[in-house]
Amino acid sequence: MAFLLNHLLLLLLLASPTLDAVVFKCSAADRRALLAIKSAFTSTNYFASWTESDPYCCHWKGVGCNPLFSVSGLFVINDSSLVGEIPAAVGDLANVFVIEFYNLPGLTGSIPSSLANLRRLVLLNLHHNSLSGSIPAMPSLRYLNLSFNRFEFVLGSVDLGMNLTVLDMSHNRITGSIPAQVNQMLGLTKLDLSHNRLCGQIPTGPVTSRFGSEAYSDNGCLCGAPLPACL
Ligand SMILES: *[C@@H]1O[C@H](CO)[C@@H](O)[C@H](O)[C@H]1NC(C)=O
Ligand SMILES: *[C@@H]1O[C@H](CO)[C@@H](O)[C@H](O)[C@H]1NC(C)=O
Ligand SMILES: *[C@@H]1O[C@H](CO)[C@@H](O)[C@H](O)[C@H]1NC(C)=O
Repeated sequence: MAFLLNHLLLLLLLASPTLDAVVFKCSAADRRALLAIKSAFTSTNYFASWTESDPYCCHWKGVGCNPLFSVSGLFVINDSSLVGEIPAAVGDLANVFVIEFYNLPGLTGSIPSSLANLRRLVLLNLHHNSLSGSIPAMPSLRYLNLSFNRFEFVLGSVDLGMNLTVLDMSHNRITGSIPAQVNQMLGLTKLDLSHNRLCGQIPTGPVTSRFGSEAYSDNGCLCGAPLPACL
């Protein structure tokens, strides 16, 4: 809830042009990180407002700040001309709690390990890109959407943390089986692991039983309730 209120406040601040000159000056560290992020991408005008000469990075396109002028949200969305990889510099935005990079077909590579440094990161939305590889441990996450990418890690080998309430990894190339620890993620209310290459028995427990077959469908050889029994 506190998170939602923060988000709302941030949107209100962004929507209020009269506050611009007073509030929107960000720290040198955040600005440096943002300019490094911009420089990682080619052929896009998404970052046209992100300029060295402008100290007010809180009103750059796709940048959100908290009331203390720290960058708290990064949104790079719907740009078919963007080409590049998520740069390690994203991990230097120390107070960021929301990161969304989505509908970016030219976004390739893997999630940089520096994201593990972001202790306040609760929402990571990366659907419909061309990301691959594995994912770093991000134990503070509550919302993770990796759907429609090319991730190919072994599910049991990644550390998803225990705070997830929403987990969508559908439409990737994820292998391995569903780890029993999923049944300890008691806050999980939405799960989608469909359209991957998972195999083996779905572990029985209080969390996996919350979801219907659509959460597990179209995998290599997953079996057991709510899917047909294992042979
Ligand atoms: C992104 O594109 C979708 C449709 O493709 C649209 O519904 C959505 O509002 C767009 N979002 C932003 C932030 O531009
Ligand atoms: C998980 O959530 C609890 C309760 O909100 C919080 O105290 C804890 O710090 C979170 N864990 C991590 C690793 O962020
Ligand atoms: C993940 O993102 C996709 C694309 O916006 C959306 O359709 C899906 O519902 C999201 N998953 C969850 C569990 O919210």
